[in-house]
Amino acid sequence: MKHLLSTRDLSRTDALAILDTAEQMAAVSQREVKKLPVLRGRTVVNLFFEDSTRTRISFEAAAKRLSADVINFSAKGSSVSKGESLKDTAQTLAAIGADAVVIRHGSSGAPARLASSGWIDAAVLNAGDGTHEHPTQALLDAFTMRRHWARLHGTASTGTDLTGMHVVIVGDVLHSRVARSDLWLLRTLGATVTLVAPPTLLPFGVESWPCEVSYDLDAALETRPDAVMMLRVQGERMHSAFFPSVREYSRRWGFDDVRLRRLDTLGLEDTILLHPGPMNRGLEISSRAADSPRATILEQVSNGVSVRMASLYLLLAGGNTPAATATLENA
Ligand code: CP
Repeated sequence: MKHLLSTRDLSRTDALAILDTAEQMAAVSQREVKKLPVLRGRTVVNLFFEDSTRTRISFEAAAKRLSADVINFSAKGSSVSKGESLKDTAQTLAAIGADAVVIRHGSSGAPARLASSGWIDAAVLNAGDGTHEHPTQALLDAFTMRRHWARLHGTASTGTDLTGMHVVIVGDVLHSRVARSDLWLLRTLGATVTLVAPPTLLPFGVESWPCEVSYDLDAALETRPDAVMMLRVQGERMHSAFFPSVREYSRRWGFDDVRLRRLDTLGLEDTILLHPGPMNRGLEISSRAADSPRATILEQVSNGVSVRMASLYLLLAGGNTPAATATLENA
């Protein structure tokens, strides 16, 4: 694996390698000294053309915990605002000596373009591109679900997949790179997925995706999901008037206090509630639901550091080879 661009083309073997290595990284994060020397002398560039809190900070923390040098680049305040192209930006980073480029871009396909361009000989990690994919978000979501699934069944999470798990993904699927990356990865790991959304917020061709599709959140809850992933309503990507209305959206597709109680009524005490953040509290999720013991939202953020440490480590330290494993175990 040279790059991490999508979960659609991530093999089960590579996905499990990242998740299992992330378990080792999580153990490091519990130590008093949280640093590993495994990427000393390597340079990771965070190249963000779109805003981010969680992903940017998490990649920075991950790279620093592996002892890499980190350069943070934000399009705002850079020469991109003077019209500099992705190619010239990439070649500047190559001249600086970047070993890995973590890129978030508003255009779907920008990370793949960077990876295949030959402009730079660095590992490229997609930190979210347009409405296409957000692979490390999906990996941290799967990591969180796998830990929950293992706790529930009294087994170790390492080495296992999500066979038998049922996940409901709810909301603005049309604009969501998280929904796409989650779907491909969850299917690769053996879970079944139901997408729930208003008809106007489902993409063209969704019928051919490997999942059930529903417009009815209450009916989807009746199918007894093990995990419910609420998506952010992406107002900034909606060019036409918000449809349905905010009020109707919240009532029919929001995870509100009524639906939170409904999980108890249905006897779904082990169902977890995920959200990738940032949240629109009161729209797609109520504050009571977001702050409830079912919610794994902050756990997802913590797990994101472990998953990104694993991704950087596997891409930069020689892949999932015996030598790389030994380096990690001896660090
Ligand atoms: N989940 C996520 O990508 O959050 P940020 O936009 O804050 O990075």
